[in-house]
Amino acid sequence: MTAVRSDTALRIDGVSRFFGSGAARVQALDNVSLDVRSGEFLCLLGASGCGKSTLLGLIAGLDAPTTGTVDTTGRRAGMMFQDSALLPWLTAGGNIEVPLRLRGIRRAERRERVEGLLAMVRLAGLADKRPHELSGGMRQRVSLARAFAQEADILCMDEPFGALDAMTRDLLHDELERIWRETGVTVIFVTHDVREAVRLGDRIVLLSSRPGRVAEIFDVDIERPRRIDSARVAELATEVTTRLREEVGRHGH
Ligand SMILES: Nc1ncnc2c1ncn2[C@@H]1O[C@H](COP(=O)(O)OP(=O)(O)OP(=O)(O)O)[C@@H](O)[C@H]1O
Ligand SMILES: [Mg+2]
Repeated sequence: MTAVRSDTALRIDGVSRFFGSGAARVQALDNVSLDVRSGEFLCLLGASGCGKSTLLGLIAGLDAPTTGTVDTTGRRAGMMFQDSALLPWLTAGGNIEVPLRLRGIRRAERRERVEGLLAMVRLAGLADKRPHELSGGMRQRVSLARAFAQEADILCMDEPFGALDAMTRDLLHDELERIWRETGVTVIFVTHDVREAVRLGDRIVLLSSRPGRVAEIFDVDIERPRRIDSARVAELATEVTTRLREEVGRHGH
């Protein structure tokens, strides 16, 4: 085996994942290999059912590959899910505290960290609100703060902004980009929105459909900060969309 370079945060090598057995056996991923640089913002793009969430689950350590290896090089991986999945009986602050409690951090320090995290997602002063008192965008901010409270080195995000309106999403892209730069965290961001991938990613990995394979990798050579409605973003998005359509068409979906 070749040595993993110290600036490699994640190495995925020959990963396949099958689900079920017999006639019901489904291959979700086929021989996926990929190296992710430490501090990279990587977007995973592909049609519905192509194995994006499956791959993310393998990276986050929630699932194991059937064959191949996922090596997080000793780094800790955390997860943020599509729906905010906040616990309704806890306040915003209480939700953000959960990962801190799990790591045994003491109460006084937890309080301080929660305040810092709320400020980071621009919700200072809202620690005592319950999820139902917040807007959808605010709930996603709380969820973002909770994701960062995991202090993971690799943050896996599964379509985190899929359910938001365009303007709220735009704002959260800005926030996420800022926090990513400040913390230096490695982000693996799943989306099926091509423009979102171009807006955020250093690279975009396009997965083919059924089973998921790496169809193509795009480098996004567009200066940050980017605007989702800029001409350059639109131009690359068109190119990626064309490839995505080919991939989807190839499988008759
Ligand atoms: N636990 C499981 N048991 C059986 N089949 C599964 C399981 N998880 C995923 N699959 C199958 O694996 C394939 C990939 O699913 P996955 O959820 O990874 O797709 P996805 O790319 O995230 O799709 P979407 O964009 O709709 O979220 C699908 O055919 C799905 O039915
Ligand atoms: Mg999914």
